[in-house]
Amino acid sequence: MTVLLPDQETVVAAVKKAVDSHGAVVEELIPILNDVNRDLGYLPAAALNEISHLLHVPKSQLFSVASFYRMLSTKPRGRHVIQFCESAPCHVVGGREVWEALMDALQLNEDDTSEDGKWTLVTVSCLGVCSVGPVVVVDDDIYGNVKPGDIPGILARYN
Ligand code: FES
Repeated sequence: MTVLLPDQETVVAAVKKAVDSHGAVVEELIPILNDVNRDLGYLPAAALNEISHLLHVPKSQLFSVASFYRMLSTKPRGRHVIQFCESAPCHVVGGREVWEALMDALQLNEDDTSEDGKWTLVTVSCLGVCSVGPVVVVDDDIYGNVKPGDIPGILARYN
C-alpha cells in the first residue's frame, strides 16, 4: 500500500493544533482525536503518545476510544475514505447490492485500503439519513438513494 506516513514533526504539529484549539482537558478528547485523525488521515502511535502525555490520559484508554469510533482509525487510510451504511433501513432498500458493487468496483473488502493508497472502504452504522438510503459517504460527500449502477460515476468524481 502506498500511503505516505507523517513524520514526527507533522504529528506533533497536528496534535498541538488540536489541543490548542480544544484545550488540554480530557472532556475534549474526542474532538482532539477527531481533528488529529482528519489532519493526518489516521491516528499514528506517535500522535496517541503525544495526546496521552498532554492530557494525562493512559495510552490504553486512547486506543480503546480510537477503536470504538468508526470515524477514527489507528491504521493509515487512503486519500479517500468511503463509508457505507450497513444498518437495516439502508439494507432493506438495496444496500447489499450497493455494497457488492462497491467491493467489485474497488476490488476491496471491508476495512481495506487500495494498493495505490487512494481508497479505504469501511462500513458504518446509521448515518442519520435513512430516508435517502442506501447511503454512501465519500470523504465529506453524502450520496443518497444510491443504486449499484451509480457507483462507477460516484468514484469517477475523485479522479
Ligand atoms: S440506516 Fe442508513 S442512514 Fe440510517
